[in-house]
Amino acid sequence: MEHFWWQTGVIYQIYPRSYQDSNGDGVGDLKGIIKRLDYLKWLGVSAIWVSPIYPSPMADFGYDISDYQGIHPLFGSIDDFDQLLQEVHARGMKLILDLVPNHTSDQHPWFLESKSSRDNPKRDWYIWKDAKEDGSLPNNWLSVFGGPAWEWDETTGQYYYHAFLKEQPDLNWRNPKVQDAMLDVMRFWLDKGVDGFRVDVMWHMIKDDQFRDNPINPDYQQHMATYEQLLPVYSTDQPEVHDIVTQMRQVLDRYSERMMIGEIYLPTHKLVVYYGVDSLGAHLPFNFMLISAHWDARHLAASIDEYEGALPKHGWPNWVLGNHDQPRITSRVGVQQARVAAMLLLTLRGTPTIYYGDEIGMRDVPIPFDEVQDPQGLNMPDKNLSRDPARTPMQWNNDEYAGFSEIKPWLRLEKEYRRQNVQLQKNDPYSMLSLYRGLIQLRQTEPSLMNGNYTPVYSDHQVFAFKRCAENSPHFLIVLNLSHRPCYFRPGNVCISGSVVAATTPELEGIAVKDYINLSGDEGVIVRLDGVR
Ligand code: NOJ
Repeated sequence: MEHFWWQTGVIYQIYPRSYQDSNGDGVGDLKGIIKRLDYLKWLGVSAIWVSPIYPSPMADFGYDISDYQGIHPLFGSIDDFDQLLQEVHARGMKLILDLVPNHTSDQHPWFLESKSSRDNPKRDWYIWKDAKEDGSLPNNWLSVFGGPAWEWDETTGQYYYHAFLKEQPDLNWRNPKVQDAMLDVMRFWLDKGVDGFRVDVMWHMIKDDQFRDNPINPDYQQHMATYEQLLPVYSTDQPEVHDIVTQMRQVLDRYSERMMIGEIYLPTHKLVVYYGVDSLGAHLPFNFMLISAHWDARHLAASIDEYEGALPKHGWPNWVLGNHDQPRITSRVGVQQARVAAMLLLTLRGTPTIYYGDEIGMRDVPIPFDEVQDPQGLNMPDKNLSRDPARTPMQWNNDEYAGFSEIKPWLRLEKEYRRQNVQLQKNDPYSMLSLYRGLIQLRQTEPSLMNGNYTPVYSDHQVFAFKRCAENSPHFLIVLNLSHRPCYFRPGNVCISGSVVAATTPELEGIAVKDYINLSGDEGVIVRLDGVR
């Protein structure tokens, strides 16, 4: 079977504010990314997804776009972008842009027109509603970032809907003119040669046409975001969203080998619907299971089996350990277990996405309250929901400001960057970076790991084991100890005979394995099996 680049390669997410500053303003930029492309090539990733770089008032750090076809001066110019694209391609890599079609900035000319009067031709480009007769909000929908999702507009005497900040009004995707405008935005970047899009909050794009109240969430607990008080039954994941996804896919399919990732936080059975009928929807509906899962071998094994089993015939799996919205893996499961997580990410069947900095084991950096910048953190200060800790500057070396910038960065650096950085880890075989690089190289050279079948082998309260097998190539057994205690693995039904080709503890590499495997706590191994083809 033929495989495309987005199936065989590894994707790497760059949060551009925090990757590399090139002009000494403390904020990362496009020229900075260009400077680090050789590093990414060395690491072995195949595609780079860059979070939004468009003009924006930055109320939500670029996810509030005021011009879909430009570049924010903070990040550079359109010429810098063209150079970035050209340099990425020159290295045989791909570039994926963030597309934010659900909402614009409230400063976008479309919204400024829309709010200017009730009979403006763009009025219906956004979601405007009257107050109820008693003067109350149109319905009970909540904003993800806290408070109601409706904002009153004094000038025209109506509410508009915003799933996120009030500075991010939702577009009305039921309006064909909105559809045309956004599909044109896609064409603009595709014509430039961009290889794909990561589509922001794809499952939010269409809302219930009757705007019914969302039901109460019976499982809500005080520590959760206020948004979770309700189940978003009518504000998200509406059946008609799939028509929109199909339209977007049709645009992509007019070009050669372009792709679309959908950002979708839904349970597996709902997520896989986004592959579309005959898999003509999103190429990769982001699978966040490894982010939300309880870190327990049996639980993970069962969830992975459920996902594998739920995939449609031509649906290609994908795996994500972290992103700019979530606590980092190192902080979720601990430094040692993060090595096991890396091995899992890079050996499961399907496309892995690595969040910048995870490859050097960056952890969530505590940000004092008076330095918090993330609106989610600021709006719900008592809930510990700020995303800043996972967005701190990349740690390149032990210079002042970690080689990220020459001046104090926009967000504070991890204090330990002198011990945790690329320069130091590059030459250390025990480092997280060496582990990541070794795993990527192995995955990219072994057909079984790149696109072979996945077969679950065993799981208990400590160990999770599975096989990856492609025809006419060596087969692999992956054994991961997801606990901190030593374990012994001897499966009843599979004979093991082979040698360890990669391990979270490098000393294990090269060791011959017969019938059983002993692992220390937080250890994982990849065994090349003898004699099976
Ligand atoms: C999802 C993005 O990943 C997040 O950073 C952003 O705040 C929301 N969508 C709103 O665009």
